[in-house]
Amino acid sequence: MNSGRLELDGLAEGHSDVYYQPRSCRVIMGKRREFKCFVMGIATASISFFFIFMFTEQYDVHSSKTLPQFGDVTDRTYMNRKPLKTYEMDRSLSHECDKQTNIAFIKPHKTGGTTLASIVNRFGYDRHASFVICKYNRRNGHLRQLAIRSTSPGNILLPPVNRRDGNWRSYRYNMIGVHIRYNRTAMNSFMVPNTRYITILREPVAQFESFFNYMHLNAAVTRAGRPVNTTALEAFMERPDFYLPKLFYDRDKDSRNNQFYYLGFDTKFHEDERMINETIQRLEEEMDMVLITDYFDESLVVMKKLFCWEMEDVLYISKNQRTHRSEVPAELAEKIRAWNRADVLLYDHFNKTLWRRIHEYGPDFKSDLAQFRLHLSETFDECIDSSGLQNPLSRKIVYKAKKHTSKFCKSLTRTHLEMHNKIWKRQSPLR
Ligand SMILES: *[C@@H]1O[C@H](CO)[C@@H](O)[C@H](O)[C@H]1NC(C)=O
Ligand SMILES: *[C@@H]1O[C@H](CO)[C@@H](O)[C@H](O)[C@H]1NC(C)=O
Ligand SMILES: *[C@@H]1O[C@H](CO)[C@@H](O)[C@H](O)[C@H]1NC(C)=O
Ligand SMILES: *[C@@H]1O[C@H](CO)[C@@H](O)[C@H](O)[C@H]1NC(C)=O
Repeated sequence: MNSGRLELDGLAEGHSDVYYQPRSCRVIMGKRREFKCFVMGIATASISFFFIFMFTEQYDVHSSKTLPQFGDVTDRTYMNRKPLKTYEMDRSLSHECDKQTNIAFIKPHKTGGTTLASIVNRFGYDRHASFVICKYNRRNGHLRQLAIRSTSPGNILLPPVNRRDGNWRSYRYNMIGVHIRYNRTAMNSFMVPNTRYITILREPVAQFESFFNYMHLNAAVTRAGRPVNTTALEAFMERPDFYLPKLFYDRDKDSRNNQFYYLGFDTKFHEDERMINETIQRLEEEMDMVLITDYFDESLVVMKKLFCWEMEDVLYISKNQRTHRSEVPAELAEKIRAWNRADVLLYDHFNKTLWRRIHEYGPDFKSDLAQFRLHLSETFDECIDSSGLQNPLSRKIVYKAKKHTSKFCKSLTRTHLEMHNKIWKRQSPLR
């Protein structure tokens, strides 16, 4: 298991942003702002209709001129393209490799997504990409549970790079690297047409335990009066349907099968296995790459080949997360699996998909993986100041870049928030 080397999102971003985010997108969903939202909604709708009726003709002509100078936005044949299959990679390699530069990373919680986001964000930032980020969330740009719709560029997203004209119907984005709920219909309308979709899943018991702690789901148990001699997680899993409605901050919506929730799964189908399986099949068609946290390096090697990326595109600084991870007892693990059945089926499916792709990769896989890991450790030695690395009391290890290091090392060691800041500054109309 490699997951111990990843920086999990929570620890990277700090706990304070779980509950209360005064500037975040969640606030506009709050009750006090409902009226404002309603008025904004009416205004947006009117503007939409105005554009639809008045500028339908001009729109197409106009948009092709003003789209961001990034990626191939004119090739509409990509609209109906199938996801890339591993066995097609070699064929494309032998002719010319088609480097994929538009990436929508749907980032679930507690899956090592921050490390993957650092790869995606660095890749896009270096190429002047336009990112999907929440304009009400200056802190980290996450969209979290907000409903994503075709109208989102007009309502909740920062405009693309060098666009501040308000003509949001022609806004097109190259990258996604934040917490966001997947909605393909909506995303198709504002991502450039040849965007590749990726996500990452983690073994559901470990992931749920981590989610439970990070999102403070124990609060529901505490409020109801915690039974003696059990942990909050044990108590919760004893009666999950009793505790779930007691959660605040919309956690009652996204906690159960939370990985699948962020991939757009409709929560009314938790118990409907036929529907679960159908949605998994649809995702199999729609997702170009599903990485698996527990086989992170393996996943990156496959993705690198699939997208025709360079070695340096997928390098990352391995960041330890919680040093002491609690083992979940078998009986408790079974309860977690049963209640999060959709996540279990989802994970098992895409874990199989990954291993099938590794198989299809061919005999070079082992040596490519070994080479990648060698590069990872060399990069670490080259970039990281190893003095004073570990604070045994801290739950998180903070790596420091060496003092006089290369530009590449600096970009690798940027924290998630530093990276977000740079992206924000480039895209913000107020800069
Ligand atoms: C997804 O986006 C489409 C297009 O805007 C919208 O009609 C639909 O309601 C959205 N779905 C969800 C679950 O938000
Ligand atoms: C809780 O555990 C302690 C120590 O194992 C035991 O002495 C006590 O009787 C238990 N209390 C209950 C209510 O089971
Ligand atoms: C759903 O898929 C799983 C795994 O492939 C399978 O075991 C199960 O029978 C399927 N259930 C339904 C209702 O199709
Ligand atoms: C993932 O799939 C592989 C190959 O089928 C299997 O050996 C492994 O146990 C699976 N991992 C998990 C965590 O289920």
